[in-house]
Order: sequence, then C-alpha cells, then structure tokens
Amino acid sequence: MQLFIDTANVSEIKTAWSWGILDGVTTNPTHIAKSGRDFDQVLEEIFAIVDGPISVETVSTKAEDIVREGRAIAAFHRNAVVKVPVMPEGLKAVKQLASEGIKTNVTLCFSAVQAYLAAKAGATYISPFIHRKELAGDDGVLLVQQIRDIYDRYGYETKILAASIRTGKEVLESLLAGADVATMPFDIMESLYKHTMTDIGLKMFLDDWKSVPESKLFGTLAVR
Ligand code: E4P
Repeated sequence: MQLFIDTANVSEIKTAWSWGILDGVTTNPTHIAKSGRDFDQVLEEIFAIVDGPISVETVSTKAEDIVREGRAIAAFHRNAVVKVPVMPEGLKAVKQLASEGIKTNVTLCFSAVQAYLAAKAGATYISPFIHRKELAGDDGVLLVQQIRDIYDRYGYETKILAASIRTGKEVLESLLAGADVATMPFDIMESLYKHTMTDIGLKMFLDDWKSVPESKLFGTLAVR
C-alpha cells in the first residue's frame, strides 16, 4: 500500500519526504486556503519536493470547466493528478481527461456505487472518505472492502485511495481492507512510528549501553 500525505503544508511535506516512506501527496481547496499562501507558489514547492503522484483539486462544477482546470493542472507537472468530486459533471470530465491520458482522482466518495461509476468513467484513483463516514455513524472501512470486492470482481484498475484518515487504526484497517493507497495528515503519519513500548525499550537499551566499554567499531558515534 502506498502512503500519501494529505496537506499543502510545505514544511510537513519536506519532513515526511525526508523519512523515505512517502509516495505522494493529496491536496484539497481547504488545505490550500489553510496554508494562506499563493496557490501557484505552493504547488511549485510541493512538486519540487516530492517525486510521486500529487493530487490537485478542481473547483468548478461544469464538466467543460473541470476539463479546462484539469488540463491546466496536468500541464503544470508530469506528476500531477487531477482531483474531481464525484458528481455527473465531474465524472463526465473524468471520462474526457482519461481519454487524453490525464490521471484523475475522484474525491468525496461515500458509497461503493459512486466508486463503481468513477471506475467506469476511467478514474485513476477513487478516494473513499473513511473518517467523515465514521463521523456520520457509518462504516468507513467497510466501504473500502466493498470497493475492493467490486473492483476485483469486475476487473477495474482504478486504485483505491483511502482518504479522510484521522487515526492509526484507520490506517491499519485500510491496509487490511486492501486499499492501494492511504492518505493522511502529517501528525497521523508521524504517530504510526510511535509506541510506548518502543520508547521504554529504547531507553533501556541506551541506558544499558552506558556500562559497555567504548568500542573501536562505534568510536565516538555511540550515544553516551
Ligand atoms: C482527500 O484527498 C482529502 O483531501 C482528505 O482526505 C479529506 O480529509 P478530511 O476529512 O480529514 O478533511
């Protein structure tokens, strides 16, 4: 499963990219607004940091306008993926963009039949919104499982991009449900590294090491 970061915060993206486990980025209009920065400038910086798929969302509601924005996004960089909300005009645009070889990410998916329609339109990615679905009293991970079943059974190649992830558990459940990608905020990605037992174990090892005589192998590198 690939790991994407869900933000337009350049310093978070830089840090996550430096960890060596990041495959791509998803942005949305809220992220861009939150950054408080110039849209074009932010995009330039993100594309310069990450060499992987980067989703940029369209903001029109008519197919022809979505296509126009999608072409502009695609022309911006070879790694660009055009994010389009699931709706009739959106999927009409996705079909057109796909026919031009432009990659798309169909977003705001809350049902498996929406994911089916996105695949039929030729979407590269479908983004089921896990946590927002959970907040509505629904089962977000079940949605990923259902989409996996449908895509496997009927041979759709659209990738499942588990989105709106706000807990480590939702990352684990996305892995188990067969998502192709999971996108998450920086703090969730960072939390995946953490476990209290790791901290306790590490402290114990480092404390015990203090009583070991200095070695030629580690020299001055070892923490003392
Ligand atoms: C998907 O690509 C969206 O940007 C995103 O995951 C939205 O998540 P949220 O529910 O945390 O806002």
